[in-house]
Amino acid sequence: MSKPESDPLLLPREAWASRLGLILAMAGNAIGLGNFLRFPVQAARNGGGAFMIPYFVALILLGIPLMWVEWAIGRHGGAHHGHGSTPGMFQALAQRPWAKYLGVLGLFNPLVVLIYYTCIESWTMAYSFFSATGRYFGITSRGEMGVFLQSFQGFAESPHFPAGFGTAYAFMLLTLGLNVLILYKGIVAGIERLAKIAMPLLFLFAVALVVRVITLGTPDAAHPDWNAAAGMGYLWNPDFSKLMDATPWLAAAGQIFFTLSLGMGSIQCYASYVRKNDDLALTGLTTAATNEFAEVILGGCIAIPIAVAFFGLVETQQIAASGAYDLGFQAMPIIFQKIPLGHLFGCLWFGLLFFAGITSSVAMGQPIMAFLQEEFGFSRRKAVAILSMAVFLCIQPVVFFRPFLGEMDFWSGTIGLALFALIEVVLFGWVFGMDRAWEEITRGADIKVPRFFYHVIRFVTPAYLLFIFGFWLYQDALPTLRMSGVAAADRPLVLWARGLMLFIFLLSLLLIGHAFGRRRKTGRTA
Ligand code: TRP
Ligand code: TRP
Repeated sequence: MSKPESDPLLLPREAWASRLGLILAMAGNAIGLGNFLRFPVQAARNGGGAFMIPYFVALILLGIPLMWVEWAIGRHGGAHHGHGSTPGMFQALAQRPWAKYLGVLGLFNPLVVLIYYTCIESWTMAYSFFSATGRYFGITSRGEMGVFLQSFQGFAESPHFPAGFGTAYAFMLLTLGLNVLILYKGIVAGIERLAKIAMPLLFLFAVALVVRVITLGTPDAAHPDWNAAAGMGYLWNPDFSKLMDATPWLAAAGQIFFTLSLGMGSIQCYASYVRKNDDLALTGLTTAATNEFAEVILGGCIAIPIAVAFFGLVETQQIAASGAYDLGFQAMPIIFQKIPLGHLFGCLWFGLLFFAGITSSVAMGQPIMAFLQEEFGFSRRKAVAILSMAVFLCIQPVVFFRPFLGEMDFWSGTIGLALFALIEVVLFGWVFGMDRAWEEITRGADIKVPRFFYHVIRFVTPAYLLFIFGFWLYQDALPTLRMSGVAAADRPLVLWARGLMLFIFLLSLLLIGHAFGRRRKTGRTA
């Protein structure tokens, strides 16, 4: 006997319980490891004050317009048509059967990012325990701290982790389990509730750390110019000399996408649970502003300034050049041993990263959940079982083979985002039509959106994206495809990583075709 309420196609869609809950959930979506690890590293690597100019240009011309576009696509697809994932949303926008396939990156990107992001997230959880228990205390050189990190990950052998990768694996399972549990509980009882707990804690931890950093003074009497202010000066003093170089422009645009969770299908998915005539202009802008506060103010005031205070500017730039993990998991644990209450501050730092991470990773899972529930008619339990199995299987190589993470980050977290953003902005502004698009963005708006953005969304954002995307193809994609710079021993692994991604991509296409074929038979229209 079938109970009607067990058929998700007949159920009303879930909706956010409160506006505050929506803002916290959206801020949780956007604020992630990118704000506290990726941003400082990108800024330091690309010349500090030279990076911030292209960064703000990209925020105005790409970030904010795309934020509105994604909210509008999401509310249109969700509240009007019952789709929480981009294949259905695009079909609803274009009213053409092929349009659903253009939404494939809205499944592929979040799934692939979710796989490697869960891995990084689990390290942050492990390190907050290590800070509390003092597990890494006593290791005072960056080199040895690097060995500690690598043996934790199972990539090196050392007495620090006699059980090899076992510890890391256990934390990965725990992290994945928590994510699955939250997704299983749904929008209001899972995601919204998580955001209401994790976001205030995140801000509290971040403010405590910022206060600690700016009251450090000059920790090393032998180097009077090593202090937090020197680090901030590096980030904030505008440097116009490097602006003729394309690299900071590309890096800044990439960071804006990544940090605002754009080009993913995730903002659209969260926005699909907004009611039909509820404001999105102000709420979308608030999300972007909250994220930028967390990024440039909080994120900018922690890792780089404290590293400059303890290691000096030159060494900090070297640390940043060697990657986000060296700054977060190698330099910071050394610093915590040099300050009073280091156990506590270490715990706050990694706890902050963990809360930032988990509120983002559930946001990557939700579009897949919505796709399985709405387009296949699966129950939430079945959808979460499929998603967790898929992530569990695909995360294995990421845990065991180092090159997987970076390769997946490049194709989904860098190229994939820009390509998807280009597709959606053209679809929305040109196929759906700019006048209807503008009506979608401004309907129910609690602020007057400047008309300037009408033209930006129509011309500037797509042109900017085309330019960025073309440059990436030209500058990065070919050398990356040819694997120049990859050690010979890693090449087969890089190819395996690509094979896995190709498989995920083709499978997503197949599932879209299958789901909508099925949908037609049930008599429901897009
Ligand atoms: N914005 C997140 C961060 O700053 C990362 C992210 C990228 C993301 N794409 C996403 C989060 C999609 C949620 C959904 O770390
Ligand atoms: N790009 C970063 C680096 O250069 C690594 C990175 C990619 C990252 N995605 C991330 C770090 C997300 C933190 C969160 O090392």
